[in-house]
Amino acid sequence: MKIAVMGSIHENGWDLIKKNNFEAFEVTNFSNDSLKKELEDVDGIAIRTAKLDKEVLSNCKNLKIVSRHGVGYDNVDKNFLDKNRIALGITGTANSVSVAEHVMTMLLYLSRKINLSDQLTRNGNFKQKNTLPDFYELYEKNILIFGFGRIGKALAKRCMAFETNVYVCDPFVDDKIIKENGCYPINKLEGLKIADCISIHLPLNEKTKNFISYDDFKITKPNLILINTSRGEIINEEALYDVLNQNKISGAGLDVYNNEPPLKDNPLFSLSNTVLTPHNSALTLECRKRMAIETFENILYYLTGDKLLNKKNIINNKIIGMN
Ligand SMILES: NC(=O)c1ccc[n+]([C@@H]2O[C@H](COP(=O)([O-])OP(=O)(O)OC[C@H]3O[C@@H](n4cnc5c(N)ncnc54)[C@H](O)[C@@H]3O)[C@@H](O)[C@H]2O)c1
Repeated sequence: MKIAVMGSIHENGWDLIKKNNFEAFEVTNFSNDSLKKELEDVDGIAIRTAKLDKEVLSNCKNLKIVSRHGVGYDNVDKNFLDKNRIALGITGTANSVSVAEHVMTMLLYLSRKINLSDQLTRNGNFKQKNTLPDFYELYEKNILIFGFGRIGKALAKRCMAFETNVYVCDPFVDDKIIKENGCYPINKLEGLKIADCISIHLPLNEKTKNFISYDDFKITKPNLILINTSRGEIINEEALYDVLNQNKISGAGLDVYNNEPPLKDNPLFSLSNTVLTPHNSALTLECRKRMAIETFENILYYLTGDKLLNKKNIINNKIIGMN
């Protein structure tokens, strides 16, 4: 069996693939011409964030599974995989904690305006601490989570530990489940009106593109902190820049952007009420190790039917597009 690995993956994953005597190689050139040649006869593909479109996939003669190192799969043509009965794996159990901790980091950083306290201290202005603008607790604030899947749920737990009121907007999850998890179900409009903090955990698709746009900011509170670690295109970035620049909301934490990498002159970079990270909320060392292992476990399980992997993986881990 031959496996292509698109992008660099932690060595723990490579160890697993070597132990199982699979032939595996890393792909570094992601142009379609090169991919068509390199992937022509592979049985499985492990993939990070590079694009895998129909043109390349239709040239893969032996392909049986594409295994995402992550959970979002908007970079892969899933319609093509479904039509051609090629499986799609995701590392479902690997990254929710890492992303949820990243959101907490951004929430605390922005509500405490830590950057201003840090600058003041470094600049020898310790005694002028009373000149800093007001900063806030998370305690008893209204947190609105869009998307109550793996990451949304992991975040809710962490927010509740801070004694916040956690509201959830997810029309695909039963209100009963939201309540059982200690949260309050709410619709988008009402949620936008009451939220002090919003965190977005939706998949990117035709319905969620531009999910937060100009009109939504007309009803949000001026103290709003907005965090997006899902996909950049879910927020209209121009609208977000405008409201941040005009202080119509308090701050934003972004791990994802309309274009990745964002252009050097992206106006968001000039704002002090933002905290920006390079799509690395799931890249803690622990999470990279888990993702590398799960990415390859999915391939091994699917190609060999190894029951041990099945037992360990399939219960916790979703392999989609298998039938
Ligand atoms: N920044 C990163 O490195 C990083 C890492 C992991 C995941 N992600 C992104 O986060 C997204 C969420 O990950 P997850 O593991 O929690 O996914 P998930 O599939 O477990 O959860 C997504 C939830 O969104 C809900 N949803 C879908 N459409 C909705 C809508 N229109 N309104 C409200 N809810 C809706 C679904 O019902 C589901 O419960 C992924 O799709 C991925 O794009 C980013």
